Amino acid sequence: MHILTVIDHPNPASFSHAIAARFMDGGRAAGHTVEAADLHAEGFNPLWTQADIEAEGAAALPADIRAEQDRIARADAISLVFPLFWWGMPSMMKGWVDRVWSWGWAYDQLSDPDVSLQRPRSGILLIPAGTRSDEMEAEGYTDALSTLWMNGTFGYFGLAPRRIELLCGSTGSDSRRATLLDRAYHAGLTLPPAKAITPSPPPVP
Ligand SMILES: Cc1cc2nc3c(=O)[nH]c(=O)nc-3n(C[C@H](O)[C@H](O)[C@H](O)COP(=O)(O)O)c2cc1C
Repeated sequence: MHILTVIDHPNPASFSHAIAARFMDGGRAAGHTVEAADLHAEGFNPLWTQADIEAEGAAALPADIRAEQDRIARADAISLVFPLFWWGMPSMMKGWVDRVWSWGWAYDQLSDPDVSLQRPRSGILLIPAGTRSDEMEAEGYTDALSTLWMNGTFGYFGLAPRRIELLCGSTGSDSRRATLLDRAYHAGLTLPPAKAITPSPPPVP
């Protein structure tokens, strides 16, 4: 497979970048080709603007969005790597999702959200988070994030199978961080192939 890894972190020496690198090492070890999209290094503009609205569903997309969509078109699998910020995506990744996965290209909301306009791609979110996993679960955040991103956002992307790896305790001890880095490597090594999605039956009137 060809794996696109999209990274949102301004610091190339950050733990998030280390996670992305280990994930890509695992992918290479499994015989895949890998491509990194380092949104900060590339100067991606995450602001959704009037130009994006006017381009919705049109042939003439803004050039930066077209370049991102071409990159996605080459990929059989997509991984997104970003630190958990305020129980959500940091602004660069959020803007990339808002702008790149556009109406008429990724989805059209005319049918089941699980039936993306895109071909199925294997997908994984690798998310360093400061909170410990037991606290995350006890407070309901683990389930909430899974519902938002696995049932919501990434159904529209056509990611199947899709998985979320919350890398909890990412600001902890060196041994904790080494365990999380191993998890990222293993995720790359064992990334499953894409599978076709079976559309849900139409609702009974
Ligand atoms: C602005 C900001 C918001 C954060 N929000 C959360 C949060 O909601 N939940 C959480 O578990 N950790 C949160 N953290 C901690 C980060 O997820 C954690 O430090 C992560 O490892 C940062 O990635 P880095 O080590 O690659 O910089 C936040 C950190 C910052 C700077």
